[in-house]
Amino acid sequence: MSTHVLSENLAKVLLTRLREKNTNSQKFRETLDQLSLLLAIKATEYLEYYELDIETPLEVTPGTFFGDTPVLVPIMRAGSGMLRAFQTFMPNSLVWHISMSRNEKTFEPTFKGSTIPEMADEAAFPLIHTGFILDPMLATGGSASLAIQMLKACVTKIIFVGILGAPEGITRLEREHPDVEVILAGMDRELNKHAYILPGLGDAGDRLFPTR
Ligand code: PRP
Ligand code: URA
Repeated sequence: MSTHVLSENLAKVLLTRLREKNTNSQKFRETLDQLSLLLAIKATEYLEYYELDIETPLEVTPGTFFGDTPVLVPIMRAGSGMLRAFQTFMPNSLVWHISMSRNEKTFEPTFKGSTIPEMADEAAFPLIHTGFILDPMLATGGSASLAIQMLKACVTKIIFVGILGAPEGITRLEREHPDVEVILAGMDRELNKHAYILPGLGDAGDRLFPTR
């Protein structure tokens, strides 16, 4: 498994804004969207491309085209905050939502539902090679691992894309899914006793979508 962490200063500035506890929900959503654009640009490097001649107004020249239709798989709720940015650069991608939530005591995810088509297999979806799982937080890695397991039935290349990761989550994915790639905007130090990432940015879902 390989893990790529964004190194651009712009990514660091946006991540700092997300971490700040005084960043309000509107600013948090906007900033997460902007940082997801940087992640999406990096993610496009994992796609297949092909070349075909096109005509400019002056002459024929080789053009570059996307070679596969990726599927975007946001893990609800927080992953949906990354979706718009990915659709910006991959407008023809499919979207399969997965809904799960982390148990507050065991920290293991509980699966609630998904829009992954029942018939999803390579024969039914011959064009789909690449799946991007979107979730801002890779903490214990339980949610990511379950989503990857579900996606493996129908997608050959899986890339997990998140904002922040913890060493515990990376270690778990390396053990359970060594064939998967990871792209993050930042790697943090550790988890606290509630399995929150430190220094982290708090509860991504609550900061994106306040409920009270
Ligand atoms: C958060 C986050 C991840 C998960 C990460 O979701 O968005 O899905 O926790 O933790 P893990 O790596 O230990 O599994 P949560 O279950 O809190 O739901 P939410 O997105 O609705 O807030
Ligand atoms: N989920 C979050 O939203 N934040 C964390 O730090 C860990 C899991």
